[in-house]
Amino acid sequence: MRCGRRLSGAFTPPGDKSITHRAILFGLLASGVTRIRGANPGEDCARSAAAAESLGAHVEPTETGWQVTGTAGEWQAAATPLDCGNSGTTMRLLAGIVAGRPVTTRLTGDASLSRRPMRRIAEPLTRMGARVEGSGDRFTPPVVVHGSSLHGIDYDVPMASAQVATCTLLAGLAASGQTGVTLPGPARDHTERLLPAFGVALELAPREHGGRTVRVTGGSSLVGTAVEVPGDFSAAAFALAAAAAEPGASVTARNVNLNPTRTAFLDVLQQMGAMVKIAGEQVESGEPRGDVTVTGPDRLRAFDVPVEWLPRMLDEVPAWAVAASAAEGTSRLRGAGELRVKESDRIASVAAAVRALGLHAEERPEGLSVTGGRARGGVRIATHHDHRIAMAFAVLAARLEEPVWFDDLSSVPTSYPGFFGTLEALGAELVPDDAPGSAA
Ligand code: S3P
Repeated sequence: MRCGRRLSGAFTPPGDKSITHRAILFGLLASGVTRIRGANPGEDCARSAAAAESLGAHVEPTETGWQVTGTAGEWQAAATPLDCGNSGTTMRLLAGIVAGRPVTTRLTGDASLSRRPMRRIAEPLTRMGARVEGSGDRFTPPVVVHGSSLHGIDYDVPMASAQVATCTLLAGLAASGQTGVTLPGPARDHTERLLPAFGVALELAPREHGGRTVRVTGGSSLVGTAVEVPGDFSAAAFALAAAAAEPGASVTARNVNLNPTRTAFLDVLQQMGAMVKIAGEQVESGEPRGDVTVTGPDRLRAFDVPVEWLPRMLDEVPAWAVAASAAEGTSRLRGAGELRVKESDRIASVAAAVRALGLHAEERPEGLSVTGGRARGGVRIATHHDHRIAMAFAVLAARLEEPVWFDDLSSVPTSYPGFFGTLEALGAELVPDDAPGSAA
């Protein structure tokens, strides 16, 4: 893939993946119909939709999303294992749902998901009364959940993981008494914003270091609703990073989710000297959205990301590497150990890709530094079947004169099936597979 020109213009990213998963799975539990407009069209959310169908919901695609006719909490046992594909969110949220009735459910995933740690969900579910099996020391998938009648707990989530918190809260909806989860830092709060739209009352209390406690009452029933999904900030971040990296380039992402638990990357870009403008901000389905324009400065400067910002830019680290690679000086991240257990080990995969492009990157157990400079093309990048690594380095490659090859771009439709169309619309020139490895 290559491009002699800089990316510029406006685009609308796909719907937010985290919100779409939640809307589908809450719709499964709800009575009546849930209409999801602007849903994320990727493979991950399709896994959640297929699982909801296997558990007895009626899930129909619509022009802009899904219509889910729910089970009013009376979901049926799945006849076959639930294949979660590449999607950690599908697996972790489903585990919380299927833990609440005395049936056994097997949750499987692809090679990448089969390496990801699941003890973090087994821990609270076991305390609530379920029995959960995983494989080996690292407790990886397949995961077998032996559900039961659960009792509510108070659980301190060890890491700022929205998936673990949501899994526990979903189990809490089927448990006796109250279930409280306390997050140690500012993880995304889409669950807390969306559950009330389904008629579930929550108690919320802020905690130190940006954390919070969320409580649900067992037996609360969900009622189907209409969900308007905003654009996915994490999907928009790649092209926005490319604009920041190119003096004078300007890219607008329209209708993007601006939930403050997700947008620290905009603050980072600003600190690096990029211009960030937000227009048309409004709130729908409990989530802020608006149009974001990023303009590249003459000189992009390196910036050390404060450790407390990291949870609010967790999925944007590959996009951060695009900006850091073009900045003057060395940019650093700390407190990023969770990145080691994403769709790939993102500290290692980002560092390796940056180095392949002839730039300097250093890994630490929980951190990463990238020194900006003149990246060289004519190289091959390993994506580790990680959609965000593929998209980040595709936008970086788009700025280079020489082509860059990728070992595998088949992960991109996980979250952003139209990604290469967007890149072309913004001015990238994609060349077909004309060299070793598979090019875009
Ligand atoms: C997500 C939470 C985050 C994030 C993932 C989606 C969610 O994971 O990285 O892409 O939808 O709840 P963790 O909960 O593991 O931090």
